Amino acid sequence: MSRFVEKLIENSRADIYPMHMPGHKRVALPFEENDAISHIRAIDITEIEGFDNLHAPEGIIGELQERIAGIFGVPKSLMLVNGSTCGVLAAISACVRPGGTILMARNSHISAYNAVNVGGLKSVYLYPEICEEGINGGIDPEAVRQALDSDDTIQAVFVTSPTYEGVISDIEKISNIAHDHGVPLIVDEAHGAHLSLCPSLEEKYGMAGAMQRGADIAVQSLHKTLPSFTQTAVLHYSPRQIDEDRLRRCVSTYQTTSPSYILMAGVDRCMDVLEKKGEALFAEYERNLEAFYEKAASLEKIKLLRWEDLKGKHCISGFDIGKLVMIAASGKGLYETLLREQGIQTEMYGINYCLAMTSFMDNGGAFDRLLKAVEECDKIYADGRDKAGELPPFAGSIRPRSVMTISRALNEELSGPGASDESYDPTFICRNFVFACPPGVPVMVPGELFTEEILDTLEAMSAGGIRMLYR
Ligand SMILES: Cc1ncc(COP(=O)(O)O)c(C=O)c1O
Repeated sequence: MSRFVEKLIENSRADIYPMHMPGHKRVALPFEENDAISHIRAIDITEIEGFDNLHAPEGIIGELQERIAGIFGVPKSLMLVNGSTCGVLAAISACVRPGGTILMARNSHISAYNAVNVGGLKSVYLYPEICEEGINGGIDPEAVRQALDSDDTIQAVFVTSPTYEGVISDIEKISNIAHDHGVPLIVDEAHGAHLSLCPSLEEKYGMAGAMQRGADIAVQSLHKTLPSFTQTAVLHYSPRQIDEDRLRRCVSTYQTTSPSYILMAGVDRCMDVLEKKGEALFAEYERNLEAFYEKAASLEKIKLLRWEDLKGKHCISGFDIGKLVMIAASGKGLYETLLREQGIQTEMYGINYCLAMTSFMDNGGAFDRLLKAVEECDKIYADGRDKAGELPPFAGSIRPRSVMTISRALNEELSGPGASDESYDPTFICRNFVFACPPGVPVMVPGELFTEEILDTLEAMSAGGIRMLYR
């Protein structure tokens, strides 16, 4: 056991009375009978003597961060207890000065757009390639080069890799191009915390970590693909292209001043597992996944997206085979059948696919259970009992015209003189983020113009069972 968790447990047993936060005083509440929550309370403390400070670490938290950096093979790591969300906000704020310009993938998570809004930034977009399967492909490195060549005000490049569906872009090429232009590359690797940890998966499927491919900052949600509590994440960085003090200040800006020791203990335990059992667990995971893909090849109507479908196409340099993208007549139909008839809760669905997320903790028959369930669903489709109507166009193929910055559209009055030039009607300006969550990628962002085609697509998405949020 490492020092972090050990110290928390020691403290919970010590004869020191907690005249400090939190108000539960580490004891069971009156109605609790020794349940899971009452146990957790024993190690829920604040920054008391000997327990360091996440915002200025020089003790056990500092040591844990160094251990994280060592395990991930990166120069520096900062632990996040507010998810990748706060890491993305901090990374963008650190690299792009208020009012500056960012070159960003249009399929970015909402947190990146929030950073653009808060900083009053100008965003120049990179549109991902589109796969025939109706998902986003990778970012074209040449598009990055062209954008940087034609706009020397750009201060950083931001891409998401892997995407929610597991698509990995060519980070090596993109980082080289960014560096040739003297700007840092930030990679939203929220879905890729596991990528740098299994060389065999990297070799076979291109599942490479962004920092190892030249990214300056990579933000990873530990909780998405590794065994760690929800909200835990890390921001890895290389001090070469980054103003370190500014980055740390920005991370502190978006992190709570009361970081949870429960969450940090979860990170510590996750690191224990990676160090002591990681290799064996990844090897077993790889075997289970490969067996699953092999058996799923005989499905008739449901198609499991494979690396072979994507390799060498659409600027994709790798695919996370742990993301089981099951393409079907109706994503919602498959999701509902798996849940209600087969007892499998998947991660999300899109119009034509349902996504099951896996990790190396899916052992003990989890893959067999999923396979059996999917085979049952496949029979339903093969019988013709579940058919989708006409599918709406893939939302990623929409390229709305942007007529003003996000922060102007969100924060300023848009009537009166100067509200619009003659080329558009201001009543068509989007004043919200329009997105489904998951995946949290806006179809429309503030300052873009609605068109008939876009409105039809949004309506068709809602009709196809996708709940759209307007925020
Ligand atoms: C691509 C991407 N980036 C960032 C995030 C935010 O991650 P977190 O939930 O850890 O805050 C998500 C969440 O789903 C995501 O999909």
